[in-house]
Amino acid sequence: MASMQGVEMKVGAAVRGEFPIFETATYLNSCSQGALSHRVRGAVEEWLAGWDANGAEWGFWVERNETFRAAMARLLHAEPDDVAVTTSVSQGVSALVSALPLDGERNRIVISEYEFPTVGQIAHAQELRGAEIVHVRPDPDGSIPAERFAEAIDERTALVCCTTLSYRSGHRHDVAAIAEAAHAAGALVLADSYQACGALELDVRTFGADAVTGGTVKYLLGTAGLGFMWVRPEVRERLVPTQTGWFADEDIFAMSIADYSPHASARRFDSGTPPVPSLYAGVAGISLVAESGVPAIEEHIQGLVGRLQEGLHELGATVVTPREPKRRGPLVCVRSTDVDTLVAALAAERIIASSREDKLRVALHLYNVEDDVDTLLEALARHRALLA
Ligand SMILES: Cc1ncc(COP(=O)(O)O)c(C=O)c1O
Repeated sequence: MASMQGVEMKVGAAVRGEFPIFETATYLNSCSQGALSHRVRGAVEEWLAGWDANGAEWGFWVERNETFRAAMARLLHAEPDDVAVTTSVSQGVSALVSALPLDGERNRIVISEYEFPTVGQIAHAQELRGAEIVHVRPDPDGSIPAERFAEAIDERTALVCCTTLSYRSGHRHDVAAIAEAAHAAGALVLADSYQACGALELDVRTFGADAVTGGTVKYLLGTAGLGFMWVRPEVRERLVPTQTGWFADEDIFAMSIADYSPHASARRFDSGTPPVPSLYAGVAGISLVAESGVPAIEEHIQGLVGRLQEGLHELGATVVTPREPKRRGPLVCVRSTDVDTLVAALAAERIIASSREDKLRVALHLYNVEDDVDTLLEALARHRALLA
């Protein structure tokens, strides 16, 4: 167990036994999906067992939905009423954007070049409703400073999308500075935090964004099919989604087809029947993250990423991700001359990583240890010819 200011931290070797994959592999792929834990497997088995044992478990399923909402709220330092339970980032963002009147003077959506495809595609879909999309491109060093966003934002901007951490380069945006520029122009800010949540401390009270979204399959250690979207209570009231569902209604059990009455809380961004198996997995996964504590996880990850960056530097590799701790997170991207061959060569040695474009993606999380970093570095030294 490592220690932080004298407090024992539940990270690294202390939690590894929960994740059987480490018995047979060096797992460095949390940017795609988190490692499966005994606890999550147990929760999904509990879902199956309860289904047969208790017959209709509807009440308990709905309770799982609220348990997840509350757990997400605690992680984000928010209130449960300010968190929507979604089935994906795509569903939440679509509901949010559907609430923006985009046919008037304020019809622009500013998006960073580092948005996940779903955010870019949802933004461009709004062109059918009169929106104009403005792209903010990286500087030659690959970073997108807040000033680039500020240059793109004006009184025509309705929404600024600045992913917290790029899924394809590992750059972290200065969300607070971007939000300052957006708010000065009267625009809202959406920070897709899928690549950060669970690995980096996100406190929505100081973060700056008006909407923060993500999902459970990566650093939150759950599975696919479940996401969340925090929406700032001060802006929520004026956001009335036209993309909706019965779980977003002010009274689900009114079963009315006579009108549309969205819930006063962030539930207005929920949709239909909750993704029950994913809720069991998500609640269990988040409990592992919460027990370790995100600040301790972040410190642990930063240490491992520093070690990895140092080793890559010694190898003379071209690392795309910044070295400065404030500008990076759990993901390190390295250029390769033939990334598919490199990922396959690593997989043959039971080192699980992934790729985007011409880059190898290496993701560190609470369960990784220094040995994982060293194992990878030794393998990369052997495959040096595949690094750019
Ligand atoms: C930054 C980011 N946003 C969104 C997603 C996925 O969105 P969705 O939940 O809609 O599949 C991913 C990864 O799959 C991602 O890395």
